[in-house]
Amino acid sequence: MAVSVAELKEAAAQRVAAAGDLASLEGVATAYLGRKGQLSSLMREIGALPSEERPAFGQQVNAARIELEALIAARRETLSAGAADRQRLAEAIDVTLPGRVPAIGRRHPLTAAFERVSQVLTGLGFQEVDGPEVEEYQYNFAALNYPEEHPAMDEQMSFYVTDELLLRTQTTALQGRVMPALTPPFRIFTLGRCFRYEAVDATHSHTFHQVDAFMVDRIVSLADLKGTLATLARALFGPEVEVRFRPDFFPFVEPGVEIAVSSGGGWLELGGAGLIHPNVLRHVGIDPEAWTGYAFGLGLDRMPMQLHGIHDIRLIFENDLRLLRQF
Ligand code: FA5
Repeated sequence: MAVSVAELKEAAAQRVAAAGDLASLEGVATAYLGRKGQLSSLMREIGALPSEERPAFGQQVNAARIELEALIAARRETLSAGAADRQRLAEAIDVTLPGRVPAIGRRHPLTAAFERVSQVLTGLGFQEVDGPEVEEYQYNFAALNYPEEHPAMDEQMSFYVTDELLLRTQTTALQGRVMPALTPPFRIFTLGRCFRYEAVDATHSHTFHQVDAFMVDRIVSLADLKGTLATLARALFGPEVEVRFRPDFFPFVEPGVEIAVSSGGGWLELGGAGLIHPNVLRHVGIDPEAWTGYAFGLGLDRMPMQLHGIHDIRLIFENDLRLLRQF
């Protein structure tokens, strides 16, 4: 015989001990115990033996098979316990590692200004209404008492989609849209994007933001207007802020004023205001003898600029994280 049962068993035992994982152990098991394995081949050699030696040989081979099966079972146990351990380790949380800080987003300073203004005006009884950015000429200009070819429109050169449609130059356009459907008294405001064909510089952008508010009631005066603006300015810039009115012209108000605020330093021009022109009220079917109103419109981009000392309006729109992370 080429190999003795003892030698074969010895070699098999060594390979079982050396198997490092379950897959190679199963390989060893097949190589010895499988149908075409080495122990089975050895058993087939029994025919070549003299008949008196056959029983002893058969018993030897069977004993070797049983021993090997026990060895493999024990090794399988060890290896699978090890695999479970490794899995547990891989899944374990190392509580000594420093935590990972999640990146926390923050609101854009312009969004914060929008929310603050909204909050204050809502608190004063104004209702927020949204208007379209692509606006009709009639609401952006005609309903606001701009005579055809009036030079006041030159200050608000815009981007026209057609002769009748343009990117709105002022959120005041909402007045003509909503007032016909309203019964006085009412208080409305709107916030949003405006566009002008503008030479861009540190304080002017082709795209910017405004808030417009207007109220119509029995007897509304410039004092009411100033009171509302002072409340808004204090909420935005602190209790010491001063509000200044200077005469200004807008076709849709009479009298008209320019609004500026100061908290000690220079004056910051925020926008325009005034008492709603009788022609505007008449145009939307409200009797100007019975009802009066005020309106104001403020630039929103200059508020966070003033608050945070941002010197160039373009920085507001560039969304450079080095700037935004500071708020
Ligand atoms: C108006 O737009 C009027 N609709 C305001 C108004 C409303 C008056 C209601 C009376 C009654 P003006 O063109 O001045 O006014 O613009 C108002 C404010 O918008 C400006 O003071 C400024 O803060 C802001 N603004 C205007 N153009 C730009 C621009 N190109 N870039 C940034 N902000 C601008």
